[in-house]
Order: sequence, then C-alpha cells, then structure tokens
Amino acid sequence: MRPNNFNAGPAVMPIEVLEEARAELLDTAGTGHSVLEWSHRSKAYDEVRWDAERRLRRLMGLPERDPWRVLFLQGGASLQFAMLPMNLATPERPGQYVNTGVWSKKALEEAVRLGRGVELWSGKPTGFDRIPEPGAWRAREPAAYVHVTTNNTIYGTQWHELPDTGGTPLVLDASSDILSRPMPYARSVLVYAGAQKNLGPAGLTIVALHTDTLARPAPGIPAILDYRVHAEADGIYNTHPTFAVWLMAKTLAWIERSGGLAAIAARNEEKAALLYAEIDRSGFYRGHAQPGSRSRMNVTFRIAKTELEDKFVKEADAAALLGLKGHRSVGGLRASLYNALPLESVRALVEFMRDFERRHG
Ligand SMILES: Cc1ncc(COP(=O)(O)O)c(C=O)c1O
Repeated sequence: MRPNNFNAGPAVMPIEVLEEARAELLDTAGTGHSVLEWSHRSKAYDEVRWDAERRLRRLMGLPERDPWRVLFLQGGASLQFAMLPMNLATPERPGQYVNTGVWSKKALEEAVRLGRGVELWSGKPTGFDRIPEPGAWRAREPAAYVHVTTNNTIYGTQWHELPDTGGTPLVLDASSDILSRPMPYARSVLVYAGAQKNLGPAGLTIVALHTDTLARPAPGIPAILDYRVHAEADGIYNTHPTFAVWLMAKTLAWIERSGGLAAIAARNEEKAALLYAEIDRSGFYRGHAQPGSRSRMNVTFRIAKTELEDKFVKEADAAALLGLKGHRSVGGLRASLYNALPLESVRALVEFMRDFERRHG
C-alpha cells in the first residue's frame, strides 16, 4: 500500500511511470545498460530528449520548432529568478512583478538585487489570499516583461486566466501548475517551471522561450546563465539531468495517455472541489484563499482552533496521509493535489478530516 502523498514538491508521481522506470532501469531501450549510464551526447539519449521536447511542446500548445525554444536546465526555478532579469531586463527597462506570494516575491527580490525589477502589485495587505482583479495593475513602460506566478504553491492561490498585459511581454513561473489544465502558454514569451511537481522528479527545470527574448545580447553575464548560449548549442550546452528528462518524457506520455490536459484538468477540478467542499462544510476548517482565487493544485486551510493543527498533521501522518503541514513560512495546513495524486487519496483525506472533526469539534 502506497501512502497518500500530499507533498508540495518533490511530490507524488504516476505509479505507472515508476513501474516502467523500474522495469527499464538496468537495460534501457535495448542498449544493454541503464539510462543512468548513458552519455548525454549518445544517440539513445538524443531520442529521449527530443521525444520529451516534442511531447512538452504539444502539451503546452507551442509550435514544433522556432519561434519557440525549449531548454532543459538545472538549478531549479530559483535559478530562473536570476537568469530571467539578467537576460531580459535592464535598469532602464526593468522586469515588472505581480507579487502574489512567497515565490513571486523571491523572483522580484532577485531582479531588484540586480537593479532590474519593480513591483507592480502586492497581495500582502490581505495576506496573499487572492489574485488581483483585472485592472488592479498596469505595466509601467518601458517594461522588459510582466512576471506572473501562475500558481502560488504556498498561499494556495491560482490565476484562472492569464492576465492582459496591454502588449507588454508576459513571463510565467508555472512551476506548480504546469500541464494541470489547458493554458495558452504561447501568449507569453517565456515560461519556466521546476519539474518536481507535475513533470517528474527534482533536478530538472524547463524553460520555454520565444526567440524574441534572445534578440538582445546580454553582455558580461556568464555563459552558463545566458539563454542565447543554451539556444545556440541546440539546447544541450552542458550535461542535461538525463535521468530526470527520461522520467519527464514518461510522465508526459502518461498525461497524453490519460486523455491529455482536458481530462487531467477535469480530474484536478474534481479532486479540488471535493476537498474545498469539506473545508467549507461546517466552519471547523477554514480555507485561506478567497473562493475566486482558489488553487486546484495546493489547497491551504486552517483549523479554526489553530492549536489542533499539530495534532492534525501527526495523526494524518500516522494514517498514511503525508505532507499536510503548511509551508514553514505561513503555517497552517496544505494539501497538494498534483496531476498524479489519485482521487482516492483526496477521498481518504476528506474521510480523515470528518473523523478528526468528530473527535475534536
Ligand atoms: C511557484 C514556485 N516557484 C519557484 C519555486 C522554487 O523552485 P526550486 O526549489 O526548484 O528552485 C517553487 C518551489 O516550490 C514554486 O512552487
């Protein structure tokens, strides 16, 4: 019996993908040895990485080749917080940030540290419980880009539609909801995401960028941090996290087999609706996010009697419901419901919540 894994990332992966990986680990793709031992320049790996890239482009709704490029990098989404303003922004044309929580703030702070970032809007006055209303902010020209975190992993809020930036290029940190629903990613100019939530294991960061973003040279930055250097090397400037890319390719194939993003989105909606209904049912639990901004990936909530929260987490853990403690920066409770989390896990959590309320309510 596998535990129910509500961790925020690294997170649950599809069991089918793990089983395939186990079956193929020692002799991968008939090569007689393991993908872990392949050269990143080998023909076998080349097939894997193009397969992964083709699937990713298809699912993200990006064209097969230019004007979009796809990079498989390391360093996490956190490295993109720095690479992005280094490559795209200048002090005169800063990156402009909609601050909807901890990760957007970190992205902003990295740009500010480089003298190339400004804040357009902040959710701080209401405790980051919402996504801004349309019209609540406007890019201040000249702007290099507007940066949006599509899903706020820690506060549990999510953009349900991409914002209208009035023509300013849009950049998305899609780390915690990438490929959880159909999304017109091609409306942006750059999307980045750590793989460890919906795409596969930790260690891989994907960056999809429009070639327009490569037009302006970024002199003086290290080659490894320069998008152009990666793009000119056909996306393989240095060693890829090969095993993670291999597992991502399998995860993307699993998404396609499962009916694609429309089917995945319907399942994610069903899971989230079930849990929010329980949170709203009696007043014993309280959702953090405003209803219109609620995330379908990370459900954040409190117990009205907050002193019961530690007990909740301990008892849940003992009942094989893992990872329900809120992020250390905000406390409370959080259940992450990524693509690979089965509906049965949410049912088990809801049942546990009712029982906990019966015993402590
Ligand atoms: C939305 C978002 N952005 C960025 C990050 C940072 O990612 P990493 O730890 O891969 O650098 C996270 C991590 O959870 C995240 O959820």
